[in-house]
Amino acid sequence: MNRITRGNRLLFGGDYNPEQWSEETWLEDVRLMKQAHVTTATLGVFAWSSLEPREGVFEFGWLDRVIDLLWANGIGVMLSTPTASPPPWFTKAHPEAMPITKAGLKLVHGSRDTYNPAAPAYREAAKRITRALGERYGQHPALQGWHIHNEYGSVSYGPFVDDAFRHWLQGRYGDLASLNRAWSSAFWSQGYGEWDEILAPQQTQYLSNPTHELDFKRFSAELLLECYRDQLTILRQLSPDLPLTTNFILSSWLNFDHWDFADASDFVSIDFYLDGDGVEGAAHAAFGADQARSFARGKPWLLMEQAANTTVRPGRIVAKPAGEILRTSAQYIANGSQGALFFQWRAGLGGSESFHSTMVPHVGEDSRTFREVTELGAFIERMAEVAEQPSGQVNARKVAIVWDSDSWWAAEGTNLPSNGFNFQSAVRRLHRQLWFKGIGVDFVRPGDDLDQYDLLLIAGQLIASDSDAESLERFVRGGGQAVLWYFSGSFDTDFRVIPNGYSGVFARTLGIRVEELLPLNSGETVLLDDGATGSDWSEVVQLRGAEAIASYSTGFASGQPAITRNSIGAGHAYYVSTNLDSDRLSALLDTVLGAAEIEPDATGAGGGLEIVRRHAGDQTYLFVINHTDTERSTAATGVDILTGIHHDGDLLVPAGVILVIKE
Ligand code: GAL
Repeated sequence: MNRITRGNRLLFGGDYNPEQWSEETWLEDVRLMKQAHVTTATLGVFAWSSLEPREGVFEFGWLDRVIDLLWANGIGVMLSTPTASPPPWFTKAHPEAMPITKAGLKLVHGSRDTYNPAAPAYREAAKRITRALGERYGQHPALQGWHIHNEYGSVSYGPFVDDAFRHWLQGRYGDLASLNRAWSSAFWSQGYGEWDEILAPQQTQYLSNPTHELDFKRFSAELLLECYRDQLTILRQLSPDLPLTTNFILSSWLNFDHWDFADASDFVSIDFYLDGDGVEGAAHAAFGADQARSFARGKPWLLMEQAANTTVRPGRIVAKPAGEILRTSAQYIANGSQGALFFQWRAGLGGSESFHSTMVPHVGEDSRTFREVTELGAFIERMAEVAEQPSGQVNARKVAIVWDSDSWWAAEGTNLPSNGFNFQSAVRRLHRQLWFKGIGVDFVRPGDDLDQYDLLLIAGQLIASDSDAESLERFVRGGGQAVLWYFSGSFDTDFRVIPNGYSGVFARTLGIRVEELLPLNSGETVLLDDGATGSDWSEVVQLRGAEAIASYSTGFASGQPAITRNSIGAGHAYYVSTNLDSDRLSALLDTVLGAAEIEPDATGAGGGLEIVRRHAGDQTYLFVINHTDTERSTAATGVDILTGIHHDGDLLVPAGVILVIKE
């Protein structure tokens, strides 16, 4: 049986903070939850001071009552450990466990995520509250799973971190000579003679050492994973039948590796907040869903948080027009999510996030938002049959995009020849283009088995190993089409330049030698002889077996190859040495999709008509979501489980409409 959904319902609900409300309001909440078809309340996120008001003194009475109340009304619980926000007593008792910023500033409570993950007092306190919760609720029938912590990502500096970092470095390098070599420490007199001379990379006078910084990001990610494991170990003992997760923030925090965290989890959960409107927002949601499904590598996964309406983010306010929460949630479910949850149930009357949208807004149930929430609840209830085990898999993807944390972190380095280098936007741009073409995508980690794929895209994978190069070569020789973008494979795993030609690790397979990097200033462009425009970057590329399929016609590299193709074995390896304008990028992707014989996943898919086939046992469901404001058409055979209408062949999909066809 599917351990999250218990084989019968997709999850619907959200973060619920009863500790902020009177018991009278709880009764009102339960009435509204039932009205909205809520299955699941995530309790306890950030509730540490209500659960342990003084060190070692627990108050579980309120939580007992609220869990029992929910359960008596048929609502399950995702129980969270509150360790993302230690209470004020913790600061007072353990001032040494407060985080220290890169600039050396010691922080105190008053917000959230204020702790040093390397401080023994924090680790012990987090384990103690986890154990207490596990002992008390580990066997409670209301629990559907454990939600550990909230969005790991905290970073600290200072003495505890320095010690732990040195220990980690000893494990990685063994001796100082190796570390000095890897860190190129002869530059600017940084040679280390004793381990205790090494500090976590706090703010420096001028540019810092890039490998030191990269190693610290790697270390910080592993430190957080250790914190996660502390709690996983306790809860696996005390609550062996329940699945464990922690909610990921969509790739924007630096010190957290999604692949490693996913491997440690029983199921993956992701928090998704739109950063665009309309069809662009839908493309962003598809990116989040494809990432979560890919990170999960076949395990179940869940949309743990989203906003019911307006999200206020620094520099951006995204509001949701009518129908959008239904479409975004359907999109996640289509792509395999075990439900659709929100942050949060009821809008706070005070506190820093009181104007973040919620399922029950300040104005109450008589509101568009709550009506749409209720409509979504009913929609999810009708999706029950897709929750059967095994479910959550989608039609096999033929295109893989490499997602590599090391390269993402390295791209933040101050040593690079251009500030315009951004791993995330390079990857996201490719995903967006393919989504608009109706082509499904998986993300893969360097080293993953590529057998299932016919097209491999590598953008901005700065750091690559010899085995990554071998894997690319094998993929292409075996008949795959691969496209690599500039600067990929230019550094070894110590973030040192590979000499004798940039993109060095992959150069042999690409049949090129990159002699010179010619990054462009912001706003500067170069032209290609096929009419394309390039920005951000250009290069002097020499052919070493490859052919030029477009050349520069302006700029320092005028007359020299800009896009190349190498035929090796049964496949092709393309190299793109500039950031192509959207039309040319689209045309290039069409060429390689054609060569790989990859077609849209369904008739009419693309341009904002999203069509995904989700599997549940032997049954398949075709989700058709029209994110556009015009009628679109597709073809399908089966019964729409929302309307009961039987379709056989061509069908029209009105603007904004969702169909779920049992095939
Ligand atoms: C999430 C976080 C929630 C809430 C939300 C606001 O990233 O997990 O606790 O802060 O953002 O959008």
